[in-house]
Amino acid sequence: MKIAFFSTQKTDRKNFCEQSLPGVEWTFFETHLMPKTKALVSGFDAVCVFVNDCLNREVLQALKAANISLILFRCAGFNNLDVAAAKELGLTVLRVPAYSPMAVAEHALALMFALNRKTHKAYNRVREGNFSIEGLLGFDFYQKTAGVIGTGRIGLQLIRMLRGLNMRVLAYDIVPNAQAKEMGAEYVDLPTLYQQSDMISLHVPLTEETKYLIDAQALEQMKSGVMLINTSRGALIDTRAVIKAIKTRKVGYLGIDVYEQEESLFFEDHSEEIIEDDVFERLLTFPNVLVTAHQGFYTREAITHIRQTTFDNIAAFQQGQILTENCIVCPSSL
Ligand code: NAI
Repeated sequence: MKIAFFSTQKTDRKNFCEQSLPGVEWTFFETHLMPKTKALVSGFDAVCVFVNDCLNREVLQALKAANISLILFRCAGFNNLDVAAAKELGLTVLRVPAYSPMAVAEHALALMFALNRKTHKAYNRVREGNFSIEGLLGFDFYQKTAGVIGTGRIGLQLIRMLRGLNMRVLAYDIVPNAQAKEMGAEYVDLPTLYQQSDMISLHVPLTEETKYLIDAQALEQMKSGVMLINTSRGALIDTRAVIKAIKTRKVGYLGIDVYEQEESLFFEDHSEEIIEDDVFERLLTFPNVLVTAHQGFYTREAITHIRQTTFDNIAAFQQGQILTENCIVCPSSL
């Protein structure tokens, strides 16, 4: 089976070549799969894609025309896939539903800690011989209230950690999770969560319903000086609205590992270029904003799991035995 691997980073090539999979030949492309690059799929049997590839109807039609029937997501989120078109075209789409929920939850917590104690600033200060602690004042997490929106795999891990810090945890999800309740989280409606939380962390997928979940109206209801953390998908937050809320001091801290226009920025070195995105550049000017470039998942354990589950998906597909728990779109025969 010839597989075209898109959005390749050095680390992907190393990870996926570490172990051989009989009968599988990888070709690594650095570019994203998108309408402009769809011609590259010719001659392959499958494509392997990541968070910033574009699997819209046009690209899916190109895959179908090239006789490709298998799409392998090496990630959990699939907001970049036109699911209806994939179903219509009879494509099989498999993913890695959970590679390390702990990794992402730990990164969300790391953003919270760093923003609160301003570790990112302290690091630079000390290196420059400035040992003043002026401006580094934080607060105790102990007995503060955290709001967790989305209590699936990652949200649940974060709740476990926050409860370990002795925090009150308010939770919101369309499907409440019994384990979250056992851990001591209290399910409330969104307005209550917004009004009472000192910090809010987002762990829902990006869908039509959750796009711009955090808009001007939601921000208006939050506590003044709230800490907002997003390690899920950029478009859960209306970035322009959040910039306004930072300027009015409504948002006191913003930590993001994802950004709504990240596909043209993240995972690449743009340090020698002029970045055209003025909204993103404005975000970077605020002292209380911390941005990481979609690295929440990036731990040794997670990337090993990504490779292993992708290999399992390929092997099962080759044997006509789909792992249904990994299906985004299953073959119609199932
Ligand atoms: P999950 O599927 O286990 O949990 C998602 C939860 O969101 C579910 O409990 C679901 O009921 C809830 N939900 C769905 N729609 C909702 C709505 N409209 N309102 C309220 N709740 C809703 O997903 P998991 O594994 O926890 O991942 C969450 C997201 O994290 C993924 O969709 C992905 O976008 C992101 N992610 C980010 C990574 C990173 O490196 N920064 C890595 C992996 C995932």
